[in-house]
Amino acid sequence: MNSNTTIALITGANKGIGLEIGRQLGRQGAIVILGARAIEKAERAAARLQEENIQAFPIELDVTSSEHIQAAAAKIEAEYGKLDILVNNAGTFLDHEGNNTDVMQRSLEVNLLGPHALTEALLPLIEASPAGRIVNQSSILGSVGTILSDEFLGRASAPAYTVSKAALNAWTAQLSIRLGGTNVKVNACHPGWVKTDMGGPNAVMEIEEGAETAVWLATLPSDGPTGGFYHKQEKLPW
Ligand SMILES: NC(=O)c1ccc[n+]([C@@H]2O[C@H](COP(=O)([O-])OP(=O)(O)OC[C@H]3O[C@@H](n4cnc5c(N)ncnc54)[C@H](OP(=O)(O)O)[C@@H]3O)[C@@H](O)[C@H]2O)c1
Repeated sequence: MNSNTTIALITGANKGIGLEIGRQLGRQGAIVILGARAIEKAERAAARLQEENIQAFPIELDVTSSEHIQAAAAKIEAEYGKLDILVNNAGTFLDHEGNNTDVMQRSLEVNLLGPHALTEALLPLIEASPAGRIVNQSSILGSVGTILSDEFLGRASAPAYTVSKAALNAWTAQLSIRLGGTNVKVNACHPGWVKTDMGGPNAVMEIEEGAETAVWLATLPSDGPTGGFYHKQEKLPW
């Protein structure tokens, strides 16, 4: 491996927006490590991208598993010694199961605590990159200002999902303050309403377009922004 080669890890990359982020980063020449909570799913996704001449590799990574997180960090350190791009893309929407504490807890585990634990474990490797980029896949529903606006009011009844994404946003801002003055940029991303298993068939955006904001944030130049929340290069309100 050329030491200039970009190494990217994407979570929840076996399907949907995550797989497409892997594809688009891979087309740009990155080595893409595709995380999935079942190794067979990660292997199938990597094989698909390899058929497209992308350097894609599978990794078993349930973001709620501290064992998976520690093993992934050790593997990336041993094989590459750095990580240039981390896309915390894995996410879950559980509000259809009910409005209760169990749903809230499980949503926070996947959408906030998993990305937090994974990022903490990988931070030394990201800081070893000359241009580390962390992208937290959020949602416009995590924008408290937006869900209280006339446009959204009454249409965003998904407390566990919105709280978990708002918390992800707040943590993104905190992390950007902590990493200020380093080579690492961290931003939150709203992909759009995208036709995936989560977004459903009525969504307005194709997956290719839905991956674009995260890919842009993952490949920001050194004078690019940090500590923001973006959709299609436009800054969103927190
Ligand atoms: N689609 C939209 O309209 C939309 C809008 C705003 C934000 N988003 C965000 O975009 C991200 C990707 O969503 P998507 O639309 O591509 O949905 P998707 O097709 O349902 O993909 C979700 C991915 O997350 C993975 N995942 C769930 N729990 C996990 C865990 N504990 N550990 C590791 N991976 C886990 C899933 O793995 P399995 O296959 O094993 O379940 C799957 O790979 C999510 O963070 C979502 O909140 C989507």
